[in-house]
Amino acid sequence: MSIPVTILGATGLVGQVFCERLAAHPLFRIESLVAGPESAGLAYGDAVRWRRPGEVPASLASMPLASPPGQLETPVAFSSLSPAAAALLEAPYADAGAWVFTNAAVHRMDPDVPLVIPELNGDHLHRTLDQNRSGAIVANPNCTTVGLALALAALRSEFGIQGARVVSLQALSGAGLQDGELMKLPDGLAPDIPGEADKLARELPKILGRWDANGPLEPASLTVQATCVRVPVPHGHTLSVDVTLDHPAAEADLRRAWSSFTGLPGAAELPSAPHPLIHVEAGMNGPRPGVHRDRGDGLAISVGGLKPLDASGRRWTFITLSHNLVRGAAGGAILTAEDAHRRGLLGHTATR
Ligand SMILES: NC(=O)c1ccc[n+]([C@@H]2O[C@H](COP(=O)([O-])OP(=O)(O)OC[C@H]3O[C@@H](n4cnc5c(N)ncnc54)[C@H](OP(=O)(O)O)[C@@H]3O)[C@@H](O)[C@H]2O)c1
Repeated sequence: MSIPVTILGATGLVGQVFCERLAAHPLFRIESLVAGPESAGLAYGDAVRWRRPGEVPASLASMPLASPPGQLETPVAFSSLSPAAAALLEAPYADAGAWVFTNAAVHRMDPDVPLVIPELNGDHLHRTLDQNRSGAIVANPNCTTVGLALALAALRSEFGIQGARVVSLQALSGAGLQDGELMKLPDGLAPDIPGEADKLARELPKILGRWDANGPLEPASLTVQATCVRVPVPHGHTLSVDVTLDHPAAEADLRRAWSSFTGLPGAAELPSAPHPLIHVEAGMNGPRPGVHRDRGDGLAISVGGLKPLDASGRRWTFITLSHNLVRGAAGGAILTAEDAHRRGLLGHTATR
């Protein structure tokens, strides 16, 4: 039996990807669509400024939009609310019993909220049991953090990582429907996305940290310095990464570590899991957003442009690309909810 879900922020760019991917999903069934008060009562198909390929899913086109209710009627919600609305609504919904899988930044660094990429730290989902709530909040990392975390984790498990220096080239859709539209100007490059570099630096140690049952999370010890740039690309965040490993490695070792990486046991068997998880470009070619962002239905990442920075075998530069709206937002949150279900956490909530 499928689990009924609410999509919070269903009209936004991330909300549209939730609608697209949950319209026919093996575990989840959309029962309610929520957006801002101005759209309340309108049919989804009439209210949404649809930016996805193809049409609004037929099963959703005539579904009425609701404004945020006092309490959710479904046991699970996927949230793509704007930051202010998320800050107001997500915690009360989780307190009242819903599992809220959120893309908003507001709860990401809360000490009791797991920040999940199923392949890397799906085991952190069990720590929701320590949240003082009837339901739970589970956060998705920032869209730029996700691709970087996957690319670095594959190397870290074999060679160790001291730190990374990153320059991100982030797509317009990462700024949302309103702000992304505003940036479609000639020469629309913004050299410093406010707050973004700090998110990368803070989130990565939390994701890669240890979080056992009997204590707080132990963050991973690695440093990340970043410069985050908005570029006039529709979708797909490209990162240029300089990494320092603990142990020397040859180029072939790094390529093999990426191409064979599947992450935690069970993650590769989730309904949406991409195969392979990481695509490695041949030779010196780096991945390109217009060509490679949709790999693995948008859930795979791509790496390439691998070069040594010196002769030590420890310092390397490479390019990584991931789809910000899919792996970095809605698709990643759905994969995480699939993992929570696999671990028996959602089933428990859904029947209570
Ligand atoms: N874009 C990305 O690549 C990306 C990636 C990772 C995380 N995120 C995060 O995900 C969230 C959504 O991002 P987005 O790009 O989809 O933004 P967006 O396009 O601006 O969409 C925001 C959504 O929030 C809704 N909303 C705003 N105020 C509301 C209120 N008071 N009550 C109910 N709904 C309200 C909007 O509904 P109306 O249409 O009715 O205003 C819209 O559906 C943000 O927190 C963002 O930081 C985005």
